[in-house]
Amino acid sequence: MKRFLIAGNWKMNKLIKEAGEFANELKAKNFSNADEVAVLVPFTTLCEVGSKLEGSGIGFGAQNVHFEKSGAFTGEISVPMLEEIGVDYCIVGHSERREYFGETDETVNKKLKALLAAGITPILCVGESLEVREGKGEQTFVAGQIISDFAGIPRDDAAKVVIAYEPIWAIGTGKTATPDQAEEMCAFIRGVFGGIYDNKAADDILILYGGSMKPSNAADLLAKNDINGGLIGGASLKVDDFAAIVDAAAQLK
Ligand code: 13P
Repeated sequence: MKRFLIAGNWKMNKLIKEAGEFANELKAKNFSNADEVAVLVPFTTLCEVGSKLEGSGIGFGAQNVHFEKSGAFTGEISVPMLEEIGVDYCIVGHSERREYFGETDETVNKKLKALLAAGITPILCVGESLEVREGKGEQTFVAGQIISDFAGIPRDDAAKVVIAYEPIWAIGTGKTATPDQAEEMCAFIRGVFGGIYDNKAADDILILYGGSMKPSNAADLLAKNDINGGLIGGASLKVDDFAAIVDAAAQLK
């Protein structure tokens, strides 16, 4: 049976009270596929969301982390700090962090290693800009990200990473990649990953699509062979929209 992960990336949204209410409502949905659902929330809401989701099967996590365990890194949060809260997941290398906060493939690689050593599942984001796609360079660009981001990571660790293909031109724009465009790149990523490691690892790894996924387009995207789920921004902020996407995945089981 195909495995899915439907993950909501709240980005910089929701205060503690609203986050707790959302988690309560999500838990109350009693999803049959709850163990294939997660929310990635602001640091300030992690404890509240984690405690409200307890016993639901739904995972939770952070949107960024520093690769050092501790030290003089004002404003940063370390892997041991996330471990203490008991997070399941952490996003790494989101395009917004690459664009606005100087994230590079080198720091992404260090963050992946630090999270994997702690048993926290990284959700690694890759994806090209509109300019790169218009120049037909998207496969070369994304392959380069994958190769650099996984450098020096052993096969069994790498197989635990969730990869999210998020074309930058589709994020928050309402302009979704077509199911065929998304499938083509997700299959390509699986091939690149299989080339670095092996076919079994490539078959097992979860590859998500992200970029304006919503209830109206989720089923068509999720039905594609190489798309194992979604990393959802805007539509993950409303419980019913997010739940509709979770249900779309359940119906494809
Ligand atoms: P939107 O779903 O708002 O386009 O955001 C996608 C995203 O960046 C998820 O990480």
